[in-house]
Amino acid sequence: MEACGSRRLCLFFLLLLLFSFLSLLIYQILLIQTFHMQQYLTPGSQRNVSILLWHWPFGHSYSLSGDKCLEMTGISNCSLTDDRSTYLTADVVVFHHHELSNRASALPLHLPRPTAQRWVWLSMEPPINNANVKQFNGVFNWTMSYRHDADIPIPYGKTLPGAGIQGFQRFSDRSCFASWVVSKYKPNQTRTDVYQSLKKYIPIQVYGAWNKKPLPDDRLLPTISNCLFYLSFENSEAKDYISEKMWRNAFQARAVPVVLGPRRATYEAVAPPHSFIHVADFKSVAELAAYLYHVASDKQAYEEYFKWHQTHRIKTYTDWRERLCQICLKYPSLPSKKVYQDLEGWVNS
Ligand SMILES: *[C@@H]1O[C@H](CO)[C@@H](O)[C@H](O)[C@H]1NC(C)=O
Ligand SMILES: *[C@@H]1O[C@H](CO)[C@@H](O)[C@H](O)[C@H]1NC(C)=O
Ligand SMILES: *[C@@H]1O[C@H](CO)[C@@H](O)[C@H](O)[C@H]1NC(C)=O
Ligand SMILES: *[C@@H]1O[C@H](CO)[C@@H](O)[C@H](O)[C@H]1NC(C)=O
Repeated sequence: MEACGSRRLCLFFLLLLLFSFLSLLIYQILLIQTFHMQQYLTPGSQRNVSILLWHWPFGHSYSLSGDKCLEMTGISNCSLTDDRSTYLTADVVVFHHHELSNRASALPLHLPRPTAQRWVWLSMEPPINNANVKQFNGVFNWTMSYRHDADIPIPYGKTLPGAGIQGFQRFSDRSCFASWVVSKYKPNQTRTDVYQSLKKYIPIQVYGAWNKKPLPDDRLLPTISNCLFYLSFENSEAKDYISEKMWRNAFQARAVPVVLGPRRATYEAVAPPHSFIHVADFKSVAELAAYLYHVASDKQAYEEYFKWHQTHRIKTYTDWRERLCQICLKYPSLPSKKVYQDLEGWVNS
């Protein structure tokens, strides 16, 4: 009592103290929030987002000199590097699954992990090709794949409105009925069963490592373009998995894709209208073959599959650099705090 003089004065000082303390607390909270907003909302527009690719997918490296994202995709303030010495300052580090899985490369677990840095799990492969993923549970912050629900979705191709530069073209030489390029032929795959029975009804020219008729890159599209149909058979029927077998091999060669993969609705959501024939639409392979013969013999029915060229065009993505630049576009809107505790579950879902 003696210290404050009177009881009333003492109460006043106590309240004053409490008030100051509360103000300070509120101020601190506001300060921290602004800091976080600055940290998480502005990158992408104000400064370079730096992306470190820890190792190149499948061992093929490409030049990263100059401002590759600006040059290749028009995305500015996005810096790509494969120089591991920049690890501590990188905003994002990208790890391609294949090399982690076969131990050609490893995570930098011996290095301190900067708290604001995000690790990205990258794979363009369907679940059956993502072996040994369980060991990476709780390691990655973001995912990057062909899947729509990945943090950074990077499909093999896209349909865009508006006719392409070349527009609609008619065809001349269609000496081949259908072709298929396959490098890894496996007896237990659905596509193998379909191929084995389909070839009893229609002629199929098979290329690729399996048949010992590999096609070099510059022969792939010209060869396929001699055919009326192309078998865009995926190695597995996985959610969203529509690979370059449709986007590049069939559409770019202007052969009608006969697709085997996810269900029709998935294709319809991304492919141009009336642009493909889905294996699952037929009760049997015999019915599929009969339909192919019908379309092949009816010029009008066949050309219906090319009408979309008048209203749509497609864009394919094949360059890893172009794909990596997409991270910068998504960066400002990606979840700031996220961990894939069950990456294995996500991959196989
Ligand atoms: C890129 O970043 C610079 C600052 O480093 C900024 O002045 C500029 O506006 C940014 N450009 C774009 C297109 O966001
Ligand atoms: C951003 O990165 C690009 C590509 O690495 C580089 O050319 C450019 O100078 C950088 N800009 C800034 C403001 O650091
Ligand atoms: C095919 O599948 C069966 C059972 O699903 C299995 O026993 C067999 O080993 C598989 N064959 C190959 C070549 O993978
Ligand atoms: C990224 O994931 C790591 C590993 O789980 C985690 O410790 C870290 O907090 C995460 N960072 C962000 C910014 O979400």
